[in-house]
Formats: sequence, C-alpha cells, structure tokens
Amino acid sequence: MPRPKVLATRPLFESARQILNASCDVDYWSAPERISREELLRRVADKDALVCLLTERVDDALLAAAPALRIAANVAVGFDNIDVPACTRRSVAATNTPGVLDETTADFAWTLLMAVARRIGEGEQLARSGQWTGWDLDQLCGADIHGKTLGLLGFGRIGRAVARRASGFRMKVIYHDALRAPEAVEHELHAEFREFRSVLAQSDFLSVHVPLLPETRGLLGAAQFSLMKPSAFLINTSRGPVIDESALVHALESRQLAGAALDVNEKEPQIHPGLLRPNTVLAPHLASASLETRTKMACMAAENVVALLSGKRPPNLLNPEVLQSH
Ligand code: GLV
Repeated sequence: MPRPKVLATRPLFESARQILNASCDVDYWSAPERISREELLRRVADKDALVCLLTERVDDALLAAAPALRIAANVAVGFDNIDVPACTRRSVAATNTPGVLDETTADFAWTLLMAVARRIGEGEQLARSGQWTGWDLDQLCGADIHGKTLGLLGFGRIGRAVARRASGFRMKVIYHDALRAPEAVEHELHAEFREFRSVLAQSDFLSVHVPLLPETRGLLGAAQFSLMKPSAFLINTSRGPVIDESALVHALESRQLAGAALDVNEKEPQIHPGLLRPNTVLAPHLASASLETRTKMACMAAENVVALLSGKRPPNLLNPEVLQSH
C-alpha cells in the first residue's frame, strides 16, 4: 500500500517529524518565508493530510483544491482559521491542540499583565537608550498588581490557569463566561462569577480568554471601554478581532483606560499604528511560544494525523460527524 501523503506547512520539530515520518510521506514546507496561499493550494492538491498553522486558511477553496484530503490538523488550540462546517461537508476531519498550552499561555498573560502595569517596555527602552540619568522619585511609576481585582472574560482552561496564578498576588478574581463554572472550581480558584458588565466595571486588570466566534467578534468596543475604570489595564492573549482596535486606540488616547497589553491583533501581522504608544505592551502572538509547549503542540497535530490515517479517531477531533463517513 502506498504511504499516505502529508503536507506540513512548517518543518515542525524533530519529535513531531518522527511521528509523521514513521508512516507517511511528508512534504515539509521549510523555506524561511511562510507558505503562500498559491503554493499551499498547489502542494495540498494531492495530499491526504494537512498539518497547518493558524496563519493558513482552511476554507472551501482549499478543500476544493485537495480532493483527497482527509484531515486538517491545526497546530493551535484556536481554530478560527478553519471552516469546520466546510470540512464536515467534505468529510475532512479537523483537529486542534487543546490542553497542552494552557499553562504556558497563562504564564504569558501574566507576563503581559506585569509588563504593562510596571511599564517594563518603557523602562527597558530607557535603560538601553543611554539616556537614563539615574534613579528619580517619580520615574516611570506604574500601578501595583497585588491586592487588585483581576477580571477574566472566558473561564475555560486558560482563564482558570490565569486565575490560579492570582493567589500569589492576593488578588480578587472575578470572571464572566457564557457558562458558569462548577462551584468547586470557583471555590478552588477563589473566583467569583459576575455579569459581563460588572466584570468590566470592577476589574483593575481585564484579561481576555474567549475563543473567536461570531458572538465574541468585537466583544470589547467603545461601549464596553466606557464602563471600565480609567485606571484599568486590558490584556489580550486570545484573538485580535475580539477587540475593536480603533475603539481601543481611542480609549487609550483619551485615558479612558490606563493601558493595554496585546499578544494578538485584529489584522496580524499588521499592528494598528495607534497602538504604538507608551501605555501599550505589544507582542507578536507569542503566548504559547515556549519550546516545550510548541513541541507538544506539533506532536499533538502529528498524532491526530496518524490516528486518522490509520483508521482511528483523532484525539482532538472537532467534527466527530465525519467519522461516520470514513
Ligand atoms: C494560538 O494562538 C493558539 O490558538 O494555539
């Protein structure tokens, strides 16, 4: 039997390559630049499986260009780049990488929170600039973190991992989620459920952990910022389009908010020019980027592919309906 053909849009990591190479012929895109849409459509045309990144759109056009495709395995937990219903219509399995990146992403949400509260970006710039004239009493004074209120929008695995870290700072934790967490979870994490508007109004730090869905697109805009404290900081490690960036720029300019720390942007890799200001901390979508975690994510995607191609249920299947047709 011929070995199945796989396209991986990145060379992945050695341990993930080993998983795939054991049973598949894999075309690894390894040029320094990202694969172009044209090249992706060309290379996927004869493949049985695709291992892709969140920067690649898996939509009807791609699926039409790949008639033999049986699985699209995203190396990410978020899968807004994949049209899952379109995959289902064509009996293509879609998978993601939940669980393995929760702690790393929570670490990074805290990295951003602390960076923006304590003005580390500005401080670093000053230290490197050669312009620092020495300690001064009112120099780059930021905001305390300990004892403040941390608000979480989205209280799934990642939101909860962020909450868990707050106890060391003796913070009050409040959250809103479409689904209220079980009492035992709230109790363990000392987290209190609040209505959406109350979380906005009461948070000193508001950290966003919702997936990008039609209901969460533009979740935070002018109306929501107007409810927040002018001393509050916004942290986003979820997806850029959850925030109306123009409204955020306006809120930051008019000091309706104290600052924002963003790992994700509305139109990546473009950064809204209005966000290039002192009271923002900006990162290029790095929240899960520890070597350990990115390696686990790549291995998980590889395992999903190998499972499906060997007739098993992929562990992280997003559209179980396709199994009936395989
Ligand atoms: C990264 O943003 C992911 O969704 O895994």
